[in-house]
Amino acid sequence: MHIIDELLFPKLKKRIVVVLSSTRPSLLLASERRMFARIFRRGQVLCVAKNLLGKNRSFHATLRKESPRILITGSLGQLGRGLAKILREKYGRDNIIMSDIAKASWDVLESGPYIYADILDFKNLQSIVVNERIDWLVHFSAILSAVGEQNVSQALQVNVEGVHNIFELCRRNNLRLFCPSTIGAFGPETPSNPTPDLTIQRPKTIYGVAKVHMELLGEYYHHKFGLDFRSARFPGVISADTAPGGGTTDYAVHIFHEALRQGKYNCYLRKDTRMPMIYLPDCLRATVELLEAPSENLKMRTYNINAISFTPEELANEVRKFIPRLEMAYEPDERQAIADSWPQVLEDSNARKDWGWQHEYDLNAMTIAMLEALAPTVKSSAAHLH
Ligand SMILES: NC(=O)c1ccc[n+]([C@@H]2O[C@H](COP(=O)([O-])OP(=O)(O)OC[C@H]3O[C@@H](n4cnc5c(N)ncnc54)[C@H](O)[C@@H]3O)[C@@H](O)[C@H]2O)c1
Repeated sequence: MHIIDELLFPKLKKRIVVVLSSTRPSLLLASERRMFARIFRRGQVLCVAKNLLGKNRSFHATLRKESPRILITGSLGQLGRGLAKILREKYGRDNIIMSDIAKASWDVLESGPYIYADILDFKNLQSIVVNERIDWLVHFSAILSAVGEQNVSQALQVNVEGVHNIFELCRRNNLRLFCPSTIGAFGPETPSNPTPDLTIQRPKTIYGVAKVHMELLGEYYHHKFGLDFRSARFPGVISADTAPGGGTTDYAVHIFHEALRQGKYNCYLRKDTRMPMIYLPDCLRATVELLEAPSENLKMRTYNINAISFTPEELANEVRKFIPRLEMAYEPDERQAIADSWPQVLEDSNARKDWGWQHEYDLNAMTIAMLEALAPTVKSSAAHLH
């Protein structure tokens, strides 16, 4: 017997070394994890009997047949946690492996398997795919637009070199791959209202350039090697429970926090800057639906998805229906030039036709959902809400 790994019990605030003769804790059933927790609380033993081994082997075989095992890179960002939750409900908690390069909160550790995975380290990625028997990969690691402009070499490393690793990994191991693209993959020469799937792409940020590279490489790997690559161009994502990661559309999240907290918001874009946006639950549902779509239905490999398009002024007016005293100021900074080069409305009829994409949240429904989700957490908000 030897120590091979650790089990984490966030409620006990303990990291427990479990002695096993084989297998990995991430493959253990939830009931087995609970049993270990009970054993520990009673202060009995910390080791797992060898006779669990056979059970785990057959459990492993069952997993393989019934559900895909899915690795999510960059899963601690704005989109990863929510996606892991949905996929775990569908495919089982232990079939979804969250990963990132940062320390996860106890909540994340308690919710299911979480591991360290730097997308710049190919060997480590390969060992994860082999050890965890991964079938599908959702690639969320990225340096977003505004942050990328502050650190171009880091953006190149993560968004280009990292993507090379992911494509090779998926090709060699025959994984299905979902990589989101973005409205940032277009540029000022692109028709902006509406923007079709196939059009001029001359982005002016390193983030956009890297995303065009990713789209083209994905389509090339699909054509050349049969890689099951799928991509959706996400609009700016609006979410209540996770913070945005430094994109140009972040104002559409910040405005809700500031409206609730102090009744005013200083926007870094002009009030008439129209951009496509999407509420997180719609974005995550699109991800799952495209990930699961039968391959033969996909006439393309990179799809626009559209949901809501609005300007900061239109959003402020919608928020004022619930917080009438909201005051807005507009002080455009360097993000204005990025926003000006992006589409205003995406044309997404191919996504709607090929895999049934439909958004649910319009501007009013998204605003209500955001305020309902944030009001309890933002102190002193109750007084502002009507
Ligand atoms: N959030 C949006 O509005 C939006 C819009 C369009 C497209 N997208 C795309 O969706 C994906 C997820 O976006 P997000 O908003 O969750 O991003 P985010 O910035 O919130 O999170 C990205 C994660 O990548 C991780 N990361 C950075 N370097 C890494 C490395 N070397 N190895 C592994 N992980 C690393 C970070 O730690 C972070 O947790 C990205 O590809 C992004 O381009 C997002």
